[in-house]
Amino acid sequence: MSCVKHVKAVARSDYAISRMTDHDLIEVVEIEESCGLSLWGWDSYHAELLRPESIMLVARRAVDSHDGQRGLGGFIAARLVAEDLHINNIGVRTEFQRIGLGGSLLTAVLSTGVVQDATAAILEVRAGNVVAQALYERHGFATISRRRNYYRQPTEDAIIMKVLIKESTAP
Ligand SMILES: CC(C)(COP(=O)(O)OP(=O)(O)OC[C@H]1O[C@@H](n2cnc3c(N)ncnc32)[C@H](O)[C@@H]1OP(=O)(O)O)[C@@H](O)C(=O)NCCC(=O)NCCS
Repeated sequence: MSCVKHVKAVARSDYAISRMTDHDLIEVVEIEESCGLSLWGWDSYHAELLRPESIMLVARRAVDSHDGQRGLGGFIAARLVAEDLHINNIGVRTEFQRIGLGGSLLTAVLSTGVVQDATAAILEVRAGNVVAQALYERHGFATISRRRNYYRQPTEDAIIMKVLIKESTAP
């Protein structure tokens, strides 16, 4: 008899997208630190959660997933500023990247933005972060401008990307 354990790979369907709560923040900060994002830290996420115009979502492992594991696979932080939805941060645990969690988080935040009357979504991304840019392009974002030397440590240009998500009702 074989002693090899067949471990089922983690799948997108093991996760559900839901609102972030303050109970999630320790994990959110852990994910932020592990995937090389600009660091906001616990206090900034907590303050953001309290803002009525923020939309903060997580990809949460379903309790009935095959291995009974819990925990977060990733998160997204966005904020409504008038009719624009600003996507401020998105991160997926390195080991669970490329199974669709980033795409699901982005789709969910854009849908929530539409419900809350946003007409466009906008974000900035490091010029060298081609993986994130590919994700955004897949969701309809296009480059609208570039800010020279916008980022620090290391210094790098920012690419500004935007997508229209709903027709404006403004006259
Ligand atoms: C960017 C990030 C959130 C993507 O999350 P993810 O869960 O891996 O993304 P998905 O599996 O949903 O992939 C969606 C699409 O993004 C693109 N993409 C994702 N990873 C990619 C890679 N390694 N290479 C090229 N394209 C990639 C592809 O278009 C992919 O679609 P496909 O798999 O059908 O080709 C994740 O890589 C991450 O956390 N990176 C570090 C943090 C970061 O850079 N955040 C963005 C700051 S602006």
